[in-house]
Amino acid sequence: MQSYLQENKERFINELLDLLRIPSISADLQYKGDVLKAAEFIADRLREAGADKVELCETPGNPIVYGEKIIDPGLPTVLAYGHYDVQPADPLELWHSPPFEPVIKDEKIYARGACDDKGQLYMHIKAFELMMQQQELACNVKFMIEGEEEIGSNNLEWFVQNNKEKLKADVILISDTGMIANDIPSITTGLRGLSYHEVEVTGPNRDLHSGLYGGAVANPINILCKMIASLHDENNHITIPGFYDNVEELSEAERAEMAKAPFSLEEYKKALDLNDVYGETGYSTNERNSIRPTLDVNGIWGGYTGEGAKTVIPSKAFAKISMRLVPHQTSEEITNLFRKHFEQIAPAGVKVEVRPHHGGEPAVTPMNSIAYKAASMAYEQTFGKKPVPMRSGGSIPIVAMFKQELGLDSVLMGFGLDSDAIHSPNEHFGIFNFLKGIETIPYFFKHYAELSK
Ligand code: BES
Ligand code: MN
Ligand code: MN
Repeated sequence: MQSYLQENKERFINELLDLLRIPSISADLQYKGDVLKAAEFIADRLREAGADKVELCETPGNPIVYGEKIIDPGLPTVLAYGHYDVQPADPLELWHSPPFEPVIKDEKIYARGACDDKGQLYMHIKAFELMMQQQELACNVKFMIEGEEEIGSNNLEWFVQNNKEKLKADVILISDTGMIANDIPSITTGLRGLSYHEVEVTGPNRDLHSGLYGGAVANPINILCKMIASLHDENNHITIPGFYDNVEELSEAERAEMAKAPFSLEEYKKALDLNDVYGETGYSTNERNSIRPTLDVNGIWGGYTGEGAKTVIPSKAFAKISMRLVPHQTSEEITNLFRKHFEQIAPAGVKVEVRPHHGGEPAVTPMNSIAYKAASMAYEQTFGKKPVPMRSGGSIPIVAMFKQELGLDSVLMGFGLDSDAIHSPNEHFGIFNFLKGIETIPYFFKHYAELSK
């Protein structure tokens, strides 16, 4: 196996670079053609690697690439999931090289999607090729690679509900998360959910002269800022009534176990140029960003932001506000609580509209399953040490959906690093990580087949 990887690694990397050259930005309809091109690219590479029944499954949105290799119906089936769509690349001026012209620098591939998720999904296709070429494929495998993850996977639930037989499997395997460090492999065992809103605060029916009207009417930007500021108290707890009602509280023992994961607060601050961290009283940094729910403003705008000064009371102010959810909060419950509260705290003198966007449920994946054990053994073989279980703060809403619709648990074998700058300028993915993924995945298949006997 090692030799196949060594002999072909240049080609594997070059193929990934080709995929990264396709700007498959799902959020921007201008790139619809490139999104389709990326789907076709994936389908072609799956076919070349030896997959059968490869097709682009049409949805009302972007196609889902499907392919499979059933070697023996008696063997377990692994369903590998990934996404070929990427986040928009802006602000473009902060990139050191163009986001869709990948370059390799210091053993890292720089491009939008390098880690999230093209680099990671491509590891699965190349691991599959490797297993086929070496006659090592130990389980049946199905691929489901979607093109709408970054915009909320709107059509995936429909697809899954209508293709239960086709997607029949024993476990879902996903590489769309990270690990602690290149010498500290880890398996993600929890993801947060999401409740996302756009809010609009309206004051007067038009922008007004701030001298003539200032002080006498509500300024929607002032009001919006006040409303947003009131959503956290002095301990950085969220003030929405009922927000914490269903939050899973981990036991002291569980927290102590979590705290064993290697972490340096000094390095964390240094990497972000911060003189201190900030967050909810009573919780560590790693707890704050994984097992605790949060509320953040993602963007805020309104009024005059052009050159120079314009003395104006704006008519409207807007913000995008998201909440990350933990087990057993649900996006529906939190969406309702947020909307009710936000409308309620608006003073007379403004109108408020809350428009919910896509949401997603939190998920935890079992650690006592055959699949976890197989993944753990695979990492142990290729990294020389046991992986550390870790709860992640990010969201992959389809993990909870797969559990609900297909009854399947996922194994989250992520090979990215927090420092890979996913969704940010200069996103990158280490060549070490890419190759380690290709090396580790076949061992998962092998151990999973053996443990399933
Ligand atoms: N791959 C990420 C999620 C992720 C990254 C989880 C790192 C854990 C570690 C995924 O593509 C993503 O960006 N998800 C979105 C949610 C989605 C509904 C837009 C997120 O977490 O913001
Ligand atoms: Mn992703
Ligand atoms: Mn993403």
